[in-house]
Amino acid sequence: MVQLAKRFDSIPPYLFGEIARAKAKALAEGADLIDFGNGDPDQPTPQPIIDALCRAANDPITHRYDESDFGWPEYVSAVANWYKKRFGVTLDASKGEVLQLIGSKEGLAHLAWAYIDPGDISLVPEPGYTVYKVNTLMAGGTPHIMPLLPENGYLPDLSAIPSDVARKAKLMYLNYPNNPTSAVATMDFYLDVVEFAKQNDIIVCHDSAYSEVTFDGYKAPSFLQTPGAMDIGIEMNSLSKAYNMTGWRLGWAAGNADIIKGLNKMKANIDSKQFPALALAGAYALENMAGDPKTIALYQKRRDILVDALNSLGWKLPKTKATLYIWAPVPPGYKSIDFAKMMLEKAGVLIIPGIGYGPYGEGYFRMSLTVSGDKDGELITKAVERMKANLEINW
Ligand code: MLT
Repeated sequence: MVQLAKRFDSIPPYLFGEIARAKAKALAEGADLIDFGNGDPDQPTPQPIIDALCRAANDPITHRYDESDFGWPEYVSAVANWYKKRFGVTLDASKGEVLQLIGSKEGLAHLAWAYIDPGDISLVPEPGYTVYKVNTLMAGGTPHIMPLLPENGYLPDLSAIPSDVARKAKLMYLNYPNNPTSAVATMDFYLDVVEFAKQNDIIVCHDSAYSEVTFDGYKAPSFLQTPGAMDIGIEMNSLSKAYNMTGWRLGWAAGNADIIKGLNKMKANIDSKQFPALALAGAYALENMAGDPKTIALYQKRRDILVDALNSLGWKLPKTKATLYIWAPVPPGYKSIDFAKMMLEKAGVLIIPGIGYGPYGEGYFRMSLTVSGDKDGELITKAVERMKANLEINW
């Protein structure tokens, strides 16, 4: 009998693996499914980026190992230029302040492996992307949960972290604009984070994957804009959500060179970097295109339709400023998993139960605006009509 390593004993199955299986089963049974599940952009990668990939793939220099220290040179310098243009933040790619990643998920996971020893604490937001907590656990560490509560604008209350935990903590994960709550952070909050991290000698890792998915003119700041952030922190981001490139697996870490060096030591012993043509296409995107404005406009339209339609059924949701997600309370009397099951079985609508993001996600569900097959909001309207016709919702 094969025996999985003990480190998996406390690890639940990967949330989106479970969701994909539930979806495949429903489709196999003939369900007419409307999918609000994974935050996987349904629009194609913009053609100029695909053309850049084809050009790069035709250059034999891209067919061999990338032997650079921190990533393909054009790519890491494009990331640095993008930070300057977008946030006014100066990064020196030649000094290891940028590291190419196989998507930000890979970096978020390996950061825990690079810095967390058995017994170490990492500070983890909840509800939150499961990767922070799970990799802390697998590395033998202890996640200390920082609850994200609506009354605090879904920002962690740093003063609620016991001082012995704060002193012992080695790593803090943050994520704004936030998955799954859609909350955004203020510069004042980032200033408090820098002060707290300096006082307690904590590495801050800001997951900024949704920084370019913003609406109504809102522009998300970078954590690295905060005075002192470069002394204690790094920021991870990717081309996945901004350029519809989830399948390409291309991201980066940027910020403090010493922290990045530790992460790179981990990576150097695990992966052999990526197909250099990908990196060149990514460099093209960052240097020449400010995201994919047409797709952002489509998400904003879908957000308006979805929020208005849910509110017409009794929810009281604000219009979100950012991210691909609507985070909403389940109607009274339901657990999030039961509500999600009922939505799937009775309305053919796939949503994510809040409990998937940890116990502080209970009582909520998440709907992604990346609805496959939806051209102009019509599938969203259809989904909410099905909810109205098939669900019993009593406020
Ligand atoms: C999500 O739906 O939360 C995202 O697609 C997860 C990810 O980016 O890996």
